[in-house]
Amino acid sequence: MKVKAAVVFETAAHPFTETQPLKIEEVDLDPPGPGEVLVKVMAAGLCHSDLSAIEGVRPRKMPYVPGHEASGIVEEVGEGVTRVKPGDHAVLFFVPNCGTCSSCDRGEPYLCDTAYEARSDGHLITGNHKIRLNGEVINHTSGVSCYSEYMVLAEGSVIPIEKDIPLEDAALFGCAVITGVGAVVNTAAIPPGATVAVLGLGGVGLNAMMAATLSGAERVIAVDVLDDKLAFARQLGATDTVNASDPDAVEQVKELTKGGVDYAVELAGVPAALEAGYAMCRRGGTVVTAGLPRPEATLDVPIAQLVSDNRTIKGSYMGSCVPRRDIPRFLSLYRQGKLPVDRLRSGFVDFEGLNAGFDRLAAGDAVRQVLRPHGTTSV
Ligand SMILES: NC(=O)c1ccc[n+]([C@@H]2O[C@H](COP(=O)([O-])OP(=O)(O)OC[C@H]3O[C@@H](n4cnc5c(N)ncnc54)[C@H](O)[C@@H]3O)[C@@H](O)[C@H]2O)c1
Ligand SMILES: [Zn+2]
Ligand SMILES: [Zn+2]
Repeated sequence: MKVKAAVVFETAAHPFTETQPLKIEEVDLDPPGPGEVLVKVMAAGLCHSDLSAIEGVRPRKMPYVPGHEASGIVEEVGEGVTRVKPGDHAVLFFVPNCGTCSSCDRGEPYLCDTAYEARSDGHLITGNHKIRLNGEVINHTSGVSCYSEYMVLAEGSVIPIEKDIPLEDAALFGCAVITGVGAVVNTAAIPPGATVAVLGLGGVGLNAMMAATLSGAERVIAVDVLDDKLAFARQLGATDTVNASDPDAVEQVKELTKGGVDYAVELAGVPAALEAGYAMCRRGGTVVTAGLPRPEATLDVPIAQLVSDNRTIKGSYMGSCVPRRDIPRFLSLYRQGKLPVDRLRSGFVDFEGLNAGFDRLAAGDAVRQVLRPHGTTSV
């Protein structure tokens, strides 16, 4: 079938409204084969990981259809698909697990080796490419590629959800929620009564902040370079805020917590934020990072202090989530009003508004903008 999709052919610098890295094309989409599902994409989030790929901070195999955080409605299923059926509403997420590799066997589906290989090579975990333009293969992004009216995904990327959940909110559960909430409840496993600093208050960081509050943290200190983000974090439950640009930002956090936080969670994707997060922790503290800077970025820590302070540094991919377990439980928190993800939506864009949307994300003027491939509203 012919579908409208955004395609990136080469990386570009912003302003994207001038360089136009996302081109709107009519691409050919193959029907779903064995183990594959055709989904009508209803809502797709604009995540900083897409921005990093578009501007070349994080490499991708070109050309490709971006977007890895979405919701949609199942249209058609391929042979052997048993876990979803036409008409199902679903969250689409970016690490389908094969169930047979050693990471899946260890109970770490977020590290699935088959998904890792497929992601690097730009195909689905079924081994197939489904998108073409003028006969040329167009690559997939993390098995999702949701900046498209319709998309074919592996069955494992499609998690059915209840039909009363608004699809424009459900989309955020595909990345921002599982990454931010998962970093707090799975990777860090923050206990009640802890002191927590969250660095970087975008779609991912604000989810982490709400999860820290929900976990019963005694203090949740929100840290960002933008005062607007700090003010918004207070509205969402932060007990304190610190501007990371202040030369004494680390000292401010140490003073607020009499020596440093139990946990710092870094979700800015900036090496300076991880360094600050490490420094903000108390002796014996833990810093968790889910930010994704340039692949060559490093963290320089004094080893003797790491040892004598009994510190922990942890990476967190996909919030260390088991999607079939965690997406329903996080949706249940949202349904109860405890995780008001809808408040993180900054507005809607259409295909033509995607480049401007990524400019707004780069400038810090938006939290989570959502593409509605079948809608007409643009902000
Ligand atoms: N590990 C994963 O599985 C995973 C998944 C999704 C996103 N990510 C990464 O998480 C990061 C956040 O994504 P997002 O979509 O929320 O981004 P975003 O652009 O919406 O938010 C980033 C925030 O960090 C702030 N910031 C910049 N420099 C800072 C500093 N020095 N100290 C504190 N804050 C600072 C910005 O002002 C902004 O508010 C990105 O690096 C993204 O690639 C990782
Ligand atoms: Zn993302
Ligand atoms: Zn696997």
